[in-house]
Amino acid sequence: MAEPILRVSGLVKHYPLTRGILFKKQVGAVKAVDGVDFRLDRGETLGIVGESGCGKSTVAKLLVSLERPTAGTIHYKGEDITSLSGKALKAVRRNIQMVFQDPYTSLNPRMTVGDIVGEPFDIHPEAAPKGDRRGRVRDLLDVVGLNPEYVNRYPHQFSGGQRQRIGIARGLALRPEIIVADEPVSALDVSVQAQVVNLMERLQAEFDLSYVFIAHDLSIVRHISDRVGVMYLGRIVETGTETEIYDHPTHPYTQALLSAVPVPDPQAREHRERIILAGDVPSPTNIPSGCRFRTRCFKARERCAVQVPALAVPAEFRSTSGPAAHESACHFAEDRTNQA
Ligand SMILES: Nc1ncnc2c1ncn2[C@@H]1O[C@H](COP(=O)(O)OP(=O)(O)O)[C@@H](O)[C@H]1O
Ligand SMILES: [Mg+2]
Repeated sequence: MAEPILRVSGLVKHYPLTRGILFKKQVGAVKAVDGVDFRLDRGETLGIVGESGCGKSTVAKLLVSLERPTAGTIHYKGEDITSLSGKALKAVRRNIQMVFQDPYTSLNPRMTVGDIVGEPFDIHPEAAPKGDRRGRVRDLLDVVGLNPEYVNRYPHQFSGGQRQRIGIARGLALRPEIIVADEPVSALDVSVQAQVVNLMERLQAEFDLSYVFIAHDLSIVRHISDRVGVMYLGRIVETGTETEIYDHPTHPYTQALLSAVPVPDPQAREHRERIILAGDVPSPTNIPSGCRFRTRCFKARERCAVQVPALAVPAEFRSTSGPAAHESACHFAEDRTNQA
């Protein structure tokens, strides 16, 4: 197998939990990301899904080097980028860009659209053609479907969908190879979400991009993802191709998330069993022993409290699927073929 463009191994981010104002004392840790492994192949889209608070944004920040991991490695084209600094880090950052969740708060209201989209050239002047930064910015607006004449307008003069296009244009400015999109459509109206997802798919083909596409909703990532990783409390609990995850989910958490996705067809809806998850996501400062999902799991047994399940190919798939095509971190993983 060819070297993936990104390979994440044992990634951990713990934030210190302190008490006291004057004399800060560490009393624990917020285990935001607690041992994450995945790969991203060139030109593909990896969807990462999970409920709010499960560590998705922290993974995104680690990937674009906005945060330093507590442990683990991130290999970009075979090189561990977590130990880089200075010029070498700057060069890598240029190639891995982020698109943020909320287009209402992530764009500076006092800057014109032209300045926002051209801002990355302040840090990387070598990326803009000499004397024609303005021209490049206009091209970028055009490429995301915005009128280049709007270059002197301010963010408040645009709709949510248009603002996210501005954020995407900025993410594209340095011609990155990888875009980490952290819930890029979650703040948008449902009617606009598909337009932005379609735009991202078109740009992916046009600029040969690899995507990590984060969402809390499984229905959004299905359309765009080649593979999906399902996250729970700082870990990936199931991963596989889009078809495997949606049609043959094996982890109880994935099955529960899928059972909550609305189904338009009433007949399919009737066939489907709705799984209600008990309680809330536990605090990442106090992760349950054994399987971290067991406190909410409808299948939990004694073994789940004592033994951490490894992310592995479930027994029933071992003969049919390719190497690591579908992995699940559950002692009692079983195919629950989706009727919908
Ligand atoms: N800078 C930080 N300091 C302390 N805790 C944090 C910090 N950033 C995130 N967290 C905590 O880490 C957990 C995961 O957060 P996050 O990565 O934003 O999850 P998601 O994006 O999936 O909603 C949450 O409990 C959050 O409160
Ligand atoms: Mg988030």
